[in-house]
Amino acid sequence: MNSSEIRNEIHVFINGVETQVSSEQAFLPLAQFLRSEANLPGTKIVCAEGDCGACTVLVSRWAIDGWSEFQTLNSCIAPVYLFDLCSIVTVEGLAQEDELNEVQTKMREHHGAQCGYCTPGIVCALSGLAESCAGKNKVLTEKKVRNHLTGNLCRCTGYEPILSSALSIDLKKWNSLKTRYLSTINSQRLEILAKNPIEIVEPTKAAFAPTNLQTALDLKTQTPELRIVAGATDLGVLHNKAKFFLDQVLILNKIPELSKIERTSQGLWVGAQVSLTQVEDFCENSYPELSRLLRIFASPQIKNQGTLLGNILNGSPIGDSLPAFLVLEAELHLASVRGQRVVPLTAFYKGYKFFDIQPDEIAVGLMVPPLKDGFCSKFYKVSLRKDLDISAVTFAGLFKIENSTIQEARIALGGVGPTVVRLPDLEKDLVGSQFSESVFANAGAKARSLIKPISDLRATDQYRLQVTENLFRKCFEELSQEIAPCL
Ligand SMILES: Cc1cc2nc3c(=O)[nH]c(=O)nc-3n(C[C@H](O)[C@H](O)[C@H](O)COP(=O)(O)OP(=O)(O)OC[C@H]3O[C@@H](n4cnc5c(N)ncnc54)[C@H](O)[C@@H]3O)c2cc1C
Ligand code: FES
Ligand code: FES
Repeated sequence: MNSSEIRNEIHVFINGVETQVSSEQAFLPLAQFLRSEANLPGTKIVCAEGDCGACTVLVSRWAIDGWSEFQTLNSCIAPVYLFDLCSIVTVEGLAQEDELNEVQTKMREHHGAQCGYCTPGIVCALSGLAESCAGKNKVLTEKKVRNHLTGNLCRCTGYEPILSSALSIDLKKWNSLKTRYLSTINSQRLEILAKNPIEIVEPTKAAFAPTNLQTALDLKTQTPELRIVAGATDLGVLHNKAKFFLDQVLILNKIPELSKIERTSQGLWVGAQVSLTQVEDFCENSYPELSRLLRIFASPQIKNQGTLLGNILNGSPIGDSLPAFLVLEAELHLASVRGQRVVPLTAFYKGYKFFDIQPDEIAVGLMVPPLKDGFCSKFYKVSLRKDLDISAVTFAGLFKIENSTIQEARIALGGVGPTVVRLPDLEKDLVGSQFSESVFANAGAKARSLIKPISDLRATDQYRLQVTENLFRKCFEELSQEIAPCL
């Protein structure tokens, strides 16, 4: 096969075995494919919504610069067509011959399983952590274990035996999955396969994965109803709930330029295919407040698979990243065969799930202007529980404060109306005011009058109003402690 030839199957390595998947099978959720087609029933499906982690598998993706680190993800919501040139390790691939791996051994010794239904997912999640820590010579701490398991639920053990299993893992005994599963794959062949566009066309289904942007734009012009699938962490849930079927799709993960995250002279550029985990890691030093917000976003499995642009384009009024990017005045770059245009995010959300994007357009990336000196920001998410929960209210505030006076203020809120909102009138009031508790208290009270939240399963309208007001006070308290020396 030469490099420009179109393939109608995907190539995936499952526990080291190269498997070609075509036709209807390529449209199955990965977990279903593993269980019913690949005879690997160790991967469990419980919630089928990305919420419990029972379906966790480990995935390394091949790109021109080599294999990525193995990362965990939820196989119940991700269709197989997203996994071309991926190496997938399931729970069946962890033990070697009859010998359990280090995580499995410790889970057995510390009674980390009772009914065992969550166990394959927990063992895969912990194996992902062990692989990452061993590969980077890092220590496995309790904090890391707790953070890493936020996407895995267990109804039986109370978690203590799982924690003690994890903390007793001896990384010196870790048998690298990278060495075991990636080192023997012929990379020259992968280079050719990576250049093959994929088209899987069935009587009622079609999946296109072009290898360059121009072809993607042509496809979107010819068939605007093709749905772009990035990580499928939003779309896969809708598919499983039969609210929307993911079977006429355009996949962008074979277009190398869309996977770039970089600092440019205009700011931080996040390509359409960059995962939430990549953004969290990349921003750790340059936008620590953003990285901190992403730390409590979903679970590692979801962040490894889901993209930042998927969050922006899903456009939910409770999407966690949206208020932050509104105050950072990020710009969305949209492309079509007619050319490229740039839409300020503040102008993108027109109404509930109604956006400034045309059916033939593809979002190629987000540009986040650099934070100028003297600006400070606070981003908050309020939800019923800290981890893996949907927010009730989100708050983003960005300020420039000099000589105890507010020189610039930008405020955005989520969860308080049909779209995320900036509050320009309130921002105007704040500019020129003293940086003081009473000014922020009054701003909180005024914010209440500018929003109309609804009551739903997560929170009542009154709760949302009160939380919004309180977040202004919290913001003042935190900022006054952080910036006091410069006032
Ligand atoms: C268990 C679970 C927990 C979650 N927790 C959170 C949370 O804490 N906070 C939160 O905000 N969200 C959360 N989500 C929602 C979801 O994970 C995020 O919105 C994620 O960023 C979506 O990214 P994706 O790549 O998976 O998008 P997809 O599901 O692939 O796509 C989402 C939408 O974006 C469109 N799209 C994607 N890329 C492009 C493009 N390049 N051009 C045009 N349109 C495009 C798609 O067509 C689709 O409409 C959660 C989801 C699950 C299942
Ligand atoms: S089955 Fe629950 S996360 Fe996949
Ligand atoms: S051991 Fe039963 S759900 Fe975890």
